[in-house]
Amino acid sequence: MTTGTTTTTTTGASTAPGSASAPASTDSPIGGRRHLLSIADLGAEGIEEVMKLTDSFVEVSSRAIPKVPALRGKTVVSLFFEESTRTRLSFETAARRLSADVMTFSSSSSSIKKGESLRDTVQTIEAMGIDAVIVRHAGSGVPWQVSRWVHGPSVINAGDGWHEHPTQALLDCYTIRQQLRARGIQSAPALDGLRIAIVGDVRHSRVARSGVLAFAALGAHITLVAPPTLLPASLVGWPVEVSHDLESVLPKLDVVYLLRLQQERMIEALLPSLREYTATYGLTRQRAGLLPEGALIMHPGPVNRGVEIAAEVADLPSSVITNQVANGVAVRMAVLYRLLGSGVELAVA
Ligand code: MLT
Repeated sequence: MTTGTTTTTTTGASTAPGSASAPASTDSPIGGRRHLLSIADLGAEGIEEVMKLTDSFVEVSSRAIPKVPALRGKTVVSLFFEESTRTRLSFETAARRLSADVMTFSSSSSSIKKGESLRDTVQTIEAMGIDAVIVRHAGSGVPWQVSRWVHGPSVINAGDGWHEHPTQALLDCYTIRQQLRARGIQSAPALDGLRIAIVGDVRHSRVARSGVLAFAALGAHITLVAPPTLLPASLVGWPVEVSHDLESVLPKLDVVYLLRLQQERMIEALLPSLREYTATYGLTRQRAGLLPEGALIMHPGPVNRGVEIAAEVADLPSSVITNQVANGVAVRMAVLYRLLGSGVELAVA
């Protein structure tokens, strides 16, 4: 049985998607912007613009030499203060495919270890003459702070604390549309009327916050499925329904989106045990069988096989997890091109 009610207000709790210490954005869509900090900066129009541009970069990525000269002479820095495999590599690959120079910052081997402040680090890097800084940090709001400290470069949020991960939401929107079209299920623009469930540790998930903003902006119906302890303290401002019963939700879905249990962010005992979580909320083989034909299984990675998703379910044809990763590069090329683009044609490098 589905429980909970739909909330449609757009202001309120500090846990609402797009909040934290983010100042309201003024100019949208992405074409007129210098930074990409929140999905809320883009709105439906900006998301559509990125998706359209992504089509071109998917094509570029399929070429024998997947490289264009669009950002030749530009320098992009990845400034990651948290672990990352796919997001960092994806951004760096995207920048290289656009012919930008890439500098990689690693907090463990930097002067941060000698007591240098974040602000001094950022300003030191800016003084080297860079065009974009891609920031990941455990603190919510840090990319906004960085954007206030720098004068020239664009700032891209690659994940701040529990708060936002805008390029993940963009690649998820793109993947949903691409994969449902490929299966002949969705021909409508945007994500109009699609039924998407986000399952698991919503409370600690920046992926869920950005995803809710993006999916709702494009017209999807969103259900959060989680134990009460893994939902945000307040859902005021979240355009979602809530359920605690995964099996009743699955047969109605176009997309089931699993989240990793963010154990590194759990400071209290929020679950009786991992085994109990898996027994109630894990996407087992038997539960995956409740999905309608053609429905997609998604996960932002890293995947904990056997916890939120059974190992064999992650490898089903309906699982599009590797498509998400592949599209991530093209989406980030689109974002970098739009923010830094010199207007150079997308010719072969
Ligand atoms: C993230 O950085 O938030 C990841 O893509 C998702 C996760 O860590 O579970």
